[in-house]
Amino acid sequence: PTKVTKICCIGAGYVGGPTCAVIALKCPHIKVTIVDLNKARIDAWNSPDFKLPIYEPGLEDVVRKARGRNLFFSTDVDKAIQEAELIFVSVNTPTKKSGVGAGFAADLNYVELATRNIANVATSSKIVVEKSTVPCRTAESMRTILEANSKPNCRFDILSNPEFLAEGTAIQDLFKPDRVLIGSLQTPEGISACEALAEVYANWVPKERVLTVGLWSSELSKLAANAMLAQRISSVNALSAICEATGANIDEVAHAIGYDTRIGPKFLKASVGFGGSCFQKDILNLVYLSESCHLPEVAAYWRQVVEMNEYQKRRFSKRVVDTLFNTITGKRIAVLGFAFKADTGDTRESAAITLIKDFLSERAFVKVFDPQVQHDQIWMDLQEASPLVPLDHIKKHVSISGSALEACKNADAIVIATEWKEFKELDWEEIYKTMNKPAFLFDGRLLVDAAKLTKIGFKVTTIGRPSALPV
Ligand code: NAD
Ligand code: UDX
Repeated sequence: PTKVTKICCIGAGYVGGPTCAVIALKCPHIKVTIVDLNKARIDAWNSPDFKLPIYEPGLEDVVRKARGRNLFFSTDVDKAIQEAELIFVSVNTPTKKSGVGAGFAADLNYVELATRNIANVATSSKIVVEKSTVPCRTAESMRTILEANSKPNCRFDILSNPEFLAEGTAIQDLFKPDRVLIGSLQTPEGISACEALAEVYANWVPKERVLTVGLWSSELSKLAANAMLAQRISSVNALSAICEATGANIDEVAHAIGYDTRIGPKFLKASVGFGGSCFQKDILNLVYLSESCHLPEVAAYWRQVVEMNEYQKRRFSKRVVDTLFNTITGKRIAVLGFAFKADTGDTRESAAITLIKDFLSERAFVKVFDPQVQHDQIWMDLQEASPLVPLDHIKKHVSISGSALEACKNADAIVIATEWKEFKELDWEEIYKTMNKPAFLFDGRLLVDAAKLTKIGFKVTTIGRPSALPV
């Protein structure tokens, strides 16, 4: 197989950045160049004081060790492509907003542009690795584009190597992956390309964790893994609604069923709804794929996972309004957390966006606090969620606080939207004193000790527990 000495990664985002930074750290003999068209992003990766464009625990340390040694960030996409023997395509693949498949299919425009870029500038053979999450058989389109545009003596082998890291734990996940999946054509050339990439991972991943499969299985496995994970959350969230209606406690139910080794304890936490850039997008992608394969029952099955998630968010907003005597007009609501999960500054598809939008449509006043999310990002997300409302108007009803304490001052209700650990450790006695009474608290993340807070005086409502009964 090709001996990989130089790697190029196209796309310096949440996946390309951390993934290839870790490759550089673990493979000091390989030169890794991460490129992006977005200059601001590259400048941030190169910033002298390590103000990196994404927040991820442990990432700064990795970049400090490898940057300038064998890890480089650049906007010179062409040069990095020409130098490398192996190229990761790690660009965004968002849900299409218009045209055929709008609202479901993945927008493959960025993948196609990156692929054409490779074909146009490459002067030697390359292994091209699909890192982005793509629909089944995208590798075939990539190969057709590459072969139709290549120069003589340039051979392109395409691999699929989906990424399974979760945000907030990306570095840990990359250091010790459950598995690395590599898909290739089952031809001698395909298998040899697969071996070249496997050798890169072999620098730190035990051999038995590197799985090699066919290309289409690899592509589909990524969509399948996310669909199964999201389905677990929608299942537990559906059960949380039953708990609220019957007096059962979702934490106890999840604990009890998780003891079954066939079910397992992880990823059973009821919540205000899953967010993040992947789950919804990838399930919708799977729904589209199912429909394209004339499998409407299969499509409907997976679509329900997303519908249950929407229902969970709606149900939670409604519970807030119902509990606050059926009106929140003019009331002050502190929203703690804006990121889609703890330990990230990422807000894509965050449940907090939907909740705040709902509170605004009831004409409540919202104060939001998140320890990581940039203020500009919050305004952009709220504007995008309510495109017809001028930002000035949104800003009359929403403000961003510098601390949780400040957000909760004079509030009628607190809503915990993200499970930041620091919210667990707030001085709740102090917060209680500064709030309007009755002081309501809605825990959308099963984060705080409801019994303790009730003792302080809070009226606590928790996901997956009935409102009327004592906690
Ligand atoms: P992102 O939006 O953070 O980053 C993508 C980057 O690619 C952007 O900075 C963009 O400017 C750049 N880009 C787009 N087209 C380009 C081109 N032609 N040349 C150079 N740069 C280009 O996206 P992300 O979150 O890193 O996701 C990337 C892919 O990985 C997606 O397919 C996603 O589904 C998948 N994925 C994401 C996660 C996650 O947790 N975010 C996890 C697993 C897989
Ligand atoms: C997910 C997959 O886990 C990862 O393997 C894939 O590569 C990308 O998509 P990510 O979206 O970063 O990762 O985070 P994840 O931890 O999966 O959480 C997704 C959402 O589900 C978050 O909003 C989280 O709060 C929510 N969640 C997760 C729950 O509500 N309950 C749970 O038990 C777990």
